[in-house]
Amino acid sequence: MDGLKEVLLHATQEAGKIILHYFNGVFKIDHKVGINNLVTEVDNHAEDKIIQIIRQRYPEHTIISEEVGEMIQVSDYQWLIDPIDGTVNFAHGIPICCVSIGLLYKNQLVLGAVFNPMMDELFFAEKGKGATLNGIPISVSTKAEFKTACLVTGFPYKWPDDSKEHPIKVFERIVLEGLPVRRLGSAAIDLCWVACGRFDGFWEYNLSAWDVAAGYLIVQEAGGRITDFDGQPYNVFEKQTLATNGLIHEQMLSVINGKSNA
Ligand code: IPD
Ligand code: CA
Ligand code: CA
Repeated sequence: MDGLKEVLLHATQEAGKIILHYFNGVFKIDHKVGINNLVTEVDNHAEDKIIQIIRQRYPEHTIISEEVGEMIQVSDYQWLIDPIDGTVNFAHGIPICCVSIGLLYKNQLVLGAVFNPMMDELFFAEKGKGATLNGIPISVSTKAEFKTACLVTGFPYKWPDDSKEHPIKVFERIVLEGLPVRRLGSAAIDLCWVACGRFDGFWEYNLSAWDVAAGYLIVQEAGGRITDFDGQPYNVFEKQTLATNGLIHEQMLSVINGKSNA
């Protein structure tokens, strides 16, 4: 695992340098499907660097990366890459965005790294070995009282038609219960901030595997719980993400599913 970890951290940090270099600078911005779904030339530049570093050492591994798509190989290893998670923030000079890279081995997450170079915060986890922030072990919060929890969520660029319930309804229900709910604009950072105890819970509908892969492992290794909205085991290709400190998880599930906790 040491060689893989070295490549993961090297790729994460090199991409972070690129993001930091361009932050608040001049770069080209394009629109993907949906007028506010942005991609900048920095996303592509950072992605190229990450892929080049991984390919150099592990040319036989599968790579799934947001902007270039899937480079499938016959391999037990799959790298899930989001070169900039929080591109809208990045494009607006808001320093809440990151590089996010997760590694699956035989469909199980084994390594994850999330780096926000503007805040110089590197979150890292290895399966079975805990999670760290800049090398220091982290753990989820110990808050058990839902009514005083601090939560975070996100909204898709394109509203899904197949959600069991409109995400705005869930948001409304939680806000009307008087809970503080933040919207940072980077799902990977949302997950890491649950992992280090800044937030007690995070939920979002319709995320992609590259948004959540690294953060999922980091939350788990920090002692948190992550499921779908029915409380069923989560996987990175799942569309419903609920991550909490574990203690408020059942209450979050009931409020998401239409019951009051007040
Ligand atoms: C987005 C961010 C955002 C979430 C969106 C994602 P991007 O990723 O994670 O927080 O609400 O659904 O698509 O486009 O900045 O990589
Ligand atoms: Ca993303
Ligand atoms: Ca992205």
